[in-house]
Amino acid sequence: MTEIGTDIERAAALLSRGELVAIPTETVYGLAANALSSEAVLKVYTAKGRPAFNPLIVHVASAAEFSRYAEEVPELVMQLASRFSPGPLTFVLRKKAIIPDETTGGGNSVALRVPAHPIALELLQRLEFPLAAPSANPSGFISPVTAVHVQAQLAGKIPYVLDGGPCSVGIESTVIAVENDIVTVLRLGGIKVSDLQAVAPVVKFASAQSVNPASPGQLRSHYAPRTRLVLGNLNDLLQEHRAKRVAVLALGDFPPHENIVANAILSPTRNLDEAARNLFAALHRLDAAGADLILAEPMPEEGFGPAINDRLERAAA
Ligand code: TXA
Ligand code: MG
Repeated sequence: MTEIGTDIERAAALLSRGELVAIPTETVYGLAANALSSEAVLKVYTAKGRPAFNPLIVHVASAAEFSRYAEEVPELVMQLASRFSPGPLTFVLRKKAIIPDETTGGGNSVALRVPAHPIALELLQRLEFPLAAPSANPSGFISPVTAVHVQAQLAGKIPYVLDGGPCSVGIESTVIAVENDIVTVLRLGGIKVSDLQAVAPVVKFASAQSVNPASPGQLRSHYAPRTRLVLGNLNDLLQEHRAKRVAVLALGDFPPHENIVANAILSPTRNLDEAARNLFAALHRLDAAGADLILAEPMPEEGFGPAINDRLERAAA
């Protein structure tokens, strides 16, 4: 049975015994395990059905801990961390031997992040080990932004979901590698590229291949609802699919149509921060609406627009 509760003590006890607990963060819920225990971490891969080559993010209570787990912490990483940690920014650094190979998918780098959620931080402060935590969804499916989303997707596979309310950012952390004062963005997310550019002299992007060796988790199909999702101009899509029962995902207003059985407006004022916060909850809801298809429109290419579009494109793949 998978219980939902707010008992941090209980979560800490389970994690200390090598069990899995879903935890709240500001981005999405994470499926946490002791990052220093191969045995605990392997349970994460099993519960998610995650390919063993896809490394996990290791969560710590403060950036001062990075040097415990990373061989070398460049000055620029600490500058970025002093600005964005705790927060939705993940740093890929060369790992120390204390991090088991299972945690990093066999690779020699480790991804480190300080989550900006009071419950996650309190939990991390209580524990004597960091927490490996991927998003708490079955591999490839929609990320959870409430405790109920986790329970619905992982029921019976984990004992406990620590409830911290709905996630305030709503999309996963931005993942970066830092080398020779160059920041390479491996995954778009909760810290905007323009914010990174304000601190880092050079910001590059990893090439967007379907299997990107720099960030193995960036597979082409991801964040996927069970209902087929099509991305494009809503007017055109509604015309094309007028014989089907459709669910519509829109940024703001959209044209009414008889065949729409459910809809989600991500932000009535077309605010992209609000759209990011609402994205995954909207996908979970539309996926449950019994539609033949979900029709979604791309966001404008500003602010969180590219990060949301990245997720919608993978959801459609
Ligand atoms: O916001 C987040 O990052 C959430 C919360 C729970 O912290 N976690 C999350 O984890 O999104 P996950 O496993 O769903 O995505 C982690 C991403 C994957 O694309 C993975 O391949 C990449 O980070 N990653 C992890 N470790 C890496 C490493 N050592 N090198 C390159 N990419 C890495
Ligand atoms: Mg994920």
